[in-house]
Amino acid sequence: MAESTAGGYPPEQRDAIYKVIAERRDVRRGFRPDPVPADVLGRVLAAAHQAPSVGFSQPWDFIVITDRARRERIAALARRRRDEFAADLPRARARAFDQLKIESILDTPVNIVVSCDRTRGGRHTLGRATQPRTADFSSVLAVANLWLAARAEGLGVGWVSFFAERELAAELGLPAHLEVIAYLCVGYVTEFAPEPELQTAGWARRRPVAWAVHAEEFGRRGMPGEEPVDPLADLLAAIAPADADAMTAARERQDRMTKPRGSLGALEDVSARLAGLAGSCPPPLPEPACVAVFAADHGVHAQGVSPWPQEVTAQMVANFLAGGAVVNAFAAQAGAEVTVVDVGVAADLEPVPGLLPRKIGRGTADFTAGPAMTRDQAVAAVVTGAEIARDLVAAGNRCLVTGDMGIANTTASAALICAFTGADPAGATGRGTGIDALTYAKKIEVVCRGLARHQPDPADPLAVLAAFGGFEHAALAGFILGAAALRVPVILDGVIAGAAALAAVALAPDAIAACFAGHRSAEPGHAVTLSHLGLRPLVDLGLRLGEGTGALLALPLVQSAARALRDVATFDSAGVADKL
Ligand SMILES: Cc1cc2nc3c(=O)[nH]c(=O)nc-3n(C[C@H](O)[C@H](O)[C@H](O)COP(=O)(O)O)c2cc1C
Repeated sequence: MAESTAGGYPPEQRDAIYKVIAERRDVRRGFRPDPVPADVLGRVLAAAHQAPSVGFSQPWDFIVITDRARRERIAALARRRRDEFAADLPRARARAFDQLKIESILDTPVNIVVSCDRTRGGRHTLGRATQPRTADFSSVLAVANLWLAARAEGLGVGWVSFFAERELAAELGLPAHLEVIAYLCVGYVTEFAPEPELQTAGWARRRPVAWAVHAEEFGRRGMPGEEPVDPLADLLAAIAPADADAMTAARERQDRMTKPRGSLGALEDVSARLAGLAGSCPPPLPEPACVAVFAADHGVHAQGVSPWPQEVTAQMVANFLAGGAVVNAFAAQAGAEVTVVDVGVAADLEPVPGLLPRKIGRGTADFTAGPAMTRDQAVAAVVTGAEIARDLVAAGNRCLVTGDMGIANTTASAALICAFTGADPAGATGRGTGIDALTYAKKIEVVCRGLARHQPDPADPLAVLAAFGGFEHAALAGFILGAAALRVPVILDGVIAGAAALAAVALAPDAIAACFAGHRSAEPGHAVTLSHLGLRPLVDLGLRLGEGTGALLALPLVQSAARALRDVATFDSAGVADKL
């Protein structure tokens, strides 16, 4: 034991190292104007200069800026980019962003630019030939050293990246072969915040370290010395029923609000359920919201159950990403963000912003010939959906909205609904995007054949998902479970989300507490599903589009229900006489 710790620091010095790492903050507020003495700045820069670098290339330079006029010009550059970014945000995000301070260029006495020379050291620099990005990584390590040393000196550092890099480089007179890595605002502060400001402001949360540590292979999460995390078991174990006290408090408050009792109809239930989910009354407002459109293809398409070619799935994904689909229009109206998740499209999709590549397979197999997917694939898709929920919540979203795209997915949904509810295929199968009588009869027959072949047991929800589901159904089930585990509401769209919710609730019955039925679709299987789940749809407009469109229409209703519970005065507080 003694041998393995030889060379380690004595406990108090070691604690100081961990303390400075834990207490380093990105600081944007509370700077004091006092100048930073040259010797202090020198120590901090010397610490930065001791960073490791690829092939010992030391690619960094430090440009120390104090001149006010120069900082004003640089602040104007940052302001322009900030405004551009803000203009691109969904409404609820833009509101949250507006509250954030993202730079302190003029509030700090010193700004330091860390640059990178990717050519320094010549062509034989060890390591850089195979990985050119290592030069940048080395400069980033210099930033980390500087940031930690500054914290120990009582200096706050704020990193600003709202720049067009070449614009800033020109202002600093950087030679063309040098890149700006970091723009840092440095000064003494009144205090260091105990946690990242973006976490306090509710913009994003810190991911638990166990999510980030994998044993041997990506996906086997868990801390050293602990059993590997079983993501599905953990997910299901994290789901608990609604908090009855918070629901009671919400109902009592609804009764005391300055309105006749019960006059908000179904919205009173929505608000009570939101309180039950959050475990507090009033519950947090369900915004910002994000719709995740899970896209995948279906082997059962080969049976001729849809008039649309399978390529339409990939083409519509491109349309979502280009902002041209109905889901984009409705999301823009509701102020929500759109994320598209490829969980199993049968085509290679170009990487573009807004697309999360999470392919489990290139489309499922035809469920009339065998299981649509393996049990392992079903588990992987469920876990993927839950991870997407987790990432979207960690990124600051407080309401999740389901979306889906997959040619032939109403056929898979009908089979899932029959398997979970025992409904008759003739009553649960619909015309999807619109099919003629002959195709409709064929579709019912295909569902019957699938059910006869697999003899599904609803007590084994993963087997049911594997038998019939699309990858988007399984991922949506995980998304719903993820929302339930994080106690964030999830607004369900139509029949595809409904079929997925049946699977989610079969896996964890308490997940229902997180589910809000956005609408009732025109698909007959959806009504069967909602009554089986005991959910009341908020909108009923005969929609049969999918994509998340019906759920997005319900988003303002769910948000209004929460806002009313939070903001409306009570008879006692407003001095309004109650009914005799
Ligand atoms: C590469 C990088 C760029 C950043 N750019 C900005 C920025 O432009 N504006 C800002 O306010 N914070 C910026 N930050 C700071 C992060 O938002 C901050 O580190 C994060 O919220 C975590 O908080 P903490 O550093 O206090 O732990 C940046 C951080 C890094 C590592």
